[in-house]
Amino acid sequence: MIQQDYFRLMKVATAYRESKILLVANDLELFTILSHQSMSAENLALKLQVEPNPLSILMNALVAMGFLSKEKEHYRNTGISDKYLVQGKLDYMGHFLKQSHIRWNQFNHLAESLQPGYAPIQTFESIDEERRFTHSWIWGLDNLGHNAAASIAQSLDLSGVRRMLDIGGGAATYSIAFAKRNPELICVLLDLPVALEVARENIKRHGLDDRIQTMEGSYWKLDFGTDYDAVWMSNILHGLAQEENENLMAKSANALLPDGRLIVHDMFFTDDSHTNPYYPALFSVQMLAHHGKSRCYSLKEVQEWMIRAGLSNVRRTTLDSGFDLMAGSKI
Ligand SMILES: C[S@@+](CC[C@H](N)C(=O)[O-])C[C@H]1O[C@@H](n2cnc3c(N)ncnc32)[C@H](O)[C@@H]1O
Repeated sequence: MIQQDYFRLMKVATAYRESKILLVANDLELFTILSHQSMSAENLALKLQVEPNPLSILMNALVAMGFLSKEKEHYRNTGISDKYLVQGKLDYMGHFLKQSHIRWNQFNHLAESLQPGYAPIQTFESIDEERRFTHSWIWGLDNLGHNAAASIAQSLDLSGVRRMLDIGGGAATYSIAFAKRNPELICVLLDLPVALEVARENIKRHGLDDRIQTMEGSYWKLDFGTDYDAVWMSNILHGLAQEENENLMAKSANALLPDGRLIVHDMFFTDDSHTNPYYPALFSVQMLAHHGKSRCYSLKEVQEWMIRAGLSNVRRTTLDSGFDLMAGSKI
């Protein structure tokens, strides 16, 4: 075997080590503690109430991975961990990492998801645990999306849009970005109750309570109304089966005013072969393990659903910021 192939196989086969080391360190809030000072493994172990020797082995690996540096026996954050893994910082990604760690258990059932009749395994032991996970997940999505949302809001022309429905709006990441960019805009954020707990806190944090309203409940059950200039759907498709997406699009199209438009965004569109780009191709497998029915979709598939939902001028737009959207109008 060529040496390059050997190393590639080894790297992929053992990638779980890197993931687990980083995810455990993030769960311990190790980077948050080290943001204020450099520390020895002994002192940090005292603070974390763990054993110093195993902790030093973990931290040495984090040095090797570039998330810590070590001078004599003292460890400190590197640029990347200090920017993204310290609680309270603007670019904090720790929530996203925490929910990735929780997803780990679901991903363990990947082999079963290939069997007929697979139903995703419920991994929460209590309602409280599920609530904690949902909070972490929704904040994680905000970690992941707030920069993208700001740049989409900057390049998406919403002139003439006064009321926008944000379906499955999560932490209100996109509604916040749109409301900030468009001072006349009122957003209605629809989501499930626990997700809205996070959204309300985020909306308040941004001082937008007067312009982002919430609609609590399931998008399958709620009556959306019919008075929206735009319906925004972001990162919803990859969690739903094909026929569910078609149903949701038809329901969304009905919520539009005669000159309104449905705008669909997803961080994880694939190309028509579903093998590219790399991240969505792999994320599809994760969705399969989680939901047993969904995957990432191509822009062409989304376009077909929108046309079947009765929308016209259904077109892909690549924004200046590089993000792809699919939009269609009621007339
Ligand atoms: C992947 S997140 C996307 C959140 C947000 N749109 C974004 O792009 O950051 C999917 C969202 O759909 C919401 N959701 C899932 N099932 C739902 C349902 N039946 N009714 C309403 N919202 C739902 C979730 O709570 C979550 O906020």
